[in-house]
Amino acid sequence: MDTKIFSRVDKYISNLLAPEDKILTDIIKSLDTEGLPQHSVSSNQGKFLQVMMIACNAKRVLELGTLGGYSTIWLARALPHNGKVITIEADKHHGTVAQKNINNAGLSPKVDLRVGKALDILPQIIAESDEPFDMIFIDADKPPYVEYFDYALQLSRPGTIIICDNVIREGKVLDNNSKDEKVQGVQRLNKMLSENKRVTATILHSMGAKEYDGIAIAVVNRVKE
Ligand code: SAH
Ligand code: DHB
Ligand code: MG
Repeated sequence: MDTKIFSRVDKYISNLLAPEDKILTDIIKSLDTEGLPQHSVSSNQGKFLQVMMIACNAKRVLELGTLGGYSTIWLARALPHNGKVITIEADKHHGTVAQKNINNAGLSPKVDLRVGKALDILPQIIAESDEPFDMIFIDADKPPYVEYFDYALQLSRPGTIIICDNVIREGKVLDNNSKDEKVQGVQRLNKMLSENKRVTATILHSMGAKEYDGIAIAVVNRVKE
């Protein structure tokens, strides 16, 4: 099969439903000029995050892994006027680039960027939060995905949507003997999702403009009466 069809269809969908403005294309350029990896979500995935936000009426959103702020801007743009995205980034340089991009997008009032390791910042967020998050996007380093998901559950309410990026990794999740820590991290997450009674979950895999990969979507269940 001609695999170019996947990127052509991705482009067709994004032209129709997720066109990028200059703010977003400039962020993608800033990754190259500032030496950051091209690991942002695609524009169609950015739009998917927005669709999920509207579905759960999201006013408070948490993101793990900011990079240059590309996904953060898709998230922040789907917030109501009083909404907030808290986004966590471990790398100081990534954080500086992201803050510049968020300011440039005029979204600094809606985005609270915390620079530090997610496992250090998450307990602080739990301590200071009086309200749960409506949506949580997990897209930081892959080995601790299960730990991140456990924190996400502590910060959730019934109906909170938890989305995890990169859970298929070009199909490498099929290899039970994989020595790749990123693959092992998402394999643990996917297995945990199959057993966790608190959520209803699925995985959408996708061939798009980027590599073959997938996104897990979990919604926190209603409490049974
Ligand atoms: N969500 C971004 C892409 C994130 S790439 C987008 O779609 O635009 C993953 C990011 O996670 C990188 O910037 C990396 O520095 C960051 N990261 C890695 N380990 C981390 C950790 N322990 N805590 C928080 N962020 C981390
Ligand atoms: C990697 C991380 C990502 O978040 C992504 O979307 C693609 C690749 C990585 O670390 O390899
Ligand atoms: Mg990712």
